Amino acid sequence: MLKRSWLKDGYKKVADVLTKIDHKNRDFPTLKGHPAAQQHAEQVLETHDTLKHSFKTGDGLKKEFKIYRWSPDNPNQKPFLQSYFLDLSKCGPMVLDVLQKIKGEEDSSLSYRRSCREGICGSCAMNIDGTNTVACLKPINADTTSATVITPLPHMYVIKDLVVDMTNFYQQYKLIEPWLKTKKPPPGGREYRQTIGERKRLDGLYECILCACCSTSCPSYWWNPEEFLGPAALLHAYRWISDSRDDFTEERVQALTEGQERLYRCRTIKNCTATCPKSLNPANAINKIKTRHLLSQPVEKGEDKDWQSFGEA
Ligand code: SF4
Ligand code: SF4
Ligand code: FES
Repeated sequence: MLKRSWLKDGYKKVADVLTKIDHKNRDFPTLKGHPAAQQHAEQVLETHDTLKHSFKTGDGLKKEFKIYRWSPDNPNQKPFLQSYFLDLSKCGPMVLDVLQKIKGEEDSSLSYRRSCREGICGSCAMNIDGTNTVACLKPINADTTSATVITPLPHMYVIKDLVVDMTNFYQQYKLIEPWLKTKKPPPGGREYRQTIGERKRLDGLYECILCACCSTSCPSYWWNPEEFLGPAALLHAYRWISDSRDDFTEERVQALTEGQERLYRCRTIKNCTATCPKSLNPANAINKIKTRHLLSQPVEKGEDKDWQSFGEA
């Protein structure tokens, strides 16, 4: 008998939640426009199928998880990967469930951050099998022949195990002044209104959960973590630049482009966009800030002449 209800009913449950599921093509209409969520939903179904099959055939359901360990209490011990073996039929479907189970039942010394367990708070960000993502949205890979490797977000100072120091990341977020700045009180004294179109411009920006998966996957950020603001802070900067109610748009762009480091360290490699667990596009937001900045630059007379003579030639 299947022991866990999610294993028994998992497929049906997911299908019920994601209404009108196309069982054959595994298409999720409600997740349209959210490729990361679509991919995760597909992985959950795959995991469920694999587990069901393994259960029927009596194949092993024990899977190895190798988890990065380091404690400031033993500063002379180098970081290492510790193996834990879990019976997948007795564990929830996500990687965060694995961590919870290990901490609750096997090793209470394991440290990691988590809060909402539904992709809202951004605190459970880590690197899972080579990709930065949030553990609560990442389905377990049910292939028991290979281990899943879990390490902290790359190029961050480790405080303990999977917990990294986010101080610099939050300071950069604070630096972009992530709040509405206006020059006049709202008409009628109550609220700043937007049209539907103006509000729509914030879609794809306001959903960021500040998990730092993007910034910590960006090579430019790895090498210039203090000067370059990184994709997460820049996406938020663009969110306020795009806000029709904000009266400091030009000043915001100017602050980002003083010097070449804060914004122009981005080389449009797009690792940030590829890894975002919320399917956001920080690289695109950064490009839009650059375009906005370049369009606001006065054309020099000398340059004008060069172009004219170029056209005449
Ligand atoms: S597009 Fe820019 S911010 Fe994103 S990963 Fe590449 S260099 Fe970093
Ligand atoms: S843009 Fe995506 S990856 Fe980056 S902090 Fe926001 S939610 Fe996380
Ligand atoms: S626990 Fe909140 S995003 Fe994972």
